[in-house]
Amino acid sequence: MRVARKAVRSRDQCAVALSGGTTPRRLYSLLASDWEASFRRRVKWDALHFFWCDERHVPPDHRDSNYRMIQDTLLSKVPVSPDRIHRIHAEEQDAQQAAEQYERDLRAFFASHDRPPRFDIVLLGVGPDGHTASLFPENESLRETGRWVVAPWVAQMNAYRVSLTLPILNAAAAVVILAAGEEKSDVVQAALEGDRDPGRIPVQGVQPVEGTLLWIIDRAAARKLTKKK
Ligand code: 6PG
Repeated sequence: MRVARKAVRSRDQCAVALSGGTTPRRLYSLLASDWEASFRRRVKWDALHFFWCDERHVPPDHRDSNYRMIQDTLLSKVPVSPDRIHRIHAEEQDAQQAAEQYERDLRAFFASHDRPPRFDIVLLGVGPDGHTASLFPENESLRETGRWVVAPWVAQMNAYRVSLTLPILNAAAAVVILAAGEEKSDVVQAALEGDRDPGRIPVQGVQPVEGTLLWIIDRAAARKLTKKK
């Protein structure tokens, strides 16, 4: 909230990039629930612009679509106008074309053709294998430094994905990584306390250059941490 308020105060807008996954989905459901009605009333929804950190190579109404999940879980339940929702058009036949289109959209929105876009808030999940967004272990997309958006073939998923690259995630003002559940306890311990190897544990590559990084970890996922923060 503090980051969003600061962005709105200074630029009258706040650019948020969201991820898919069951853990982020639980946060979206909470934000849209009656439990958080008072929080929702405090959010200046008409100043927020919503983007995606990544997308599966499927149409927007597909059950696996991150757009569909976030639209159904959150955006359809809060007062955000369609012109502030900037999805990845992953229904393109060719994932690379979808990535290029999204990059053009980002360059237009951030009015930038060289320096990276600075999202105000980036929300990420982390997979048990250490992937984040759609940046998977030992994938060449982890080494991309020129393009803002890539369309990696993800062998682990036997599918193409479309994803922001690490430099773009790291250009953000505030990055939040969510991890919950026993099945994330190994990757959380490896990511936070293990040897640094972003090629093997991509989430370790999330190191904001001039921004903040906040991990939100539940008890079960934190169980194997030796140094309780
Ligand atoms: C996706 C996400 C992905 C997700 C993690 C965590 O498209 O699936 O962007 O990076 O956030 O895999 O997902 P879970 O919370 O479901 O484990």
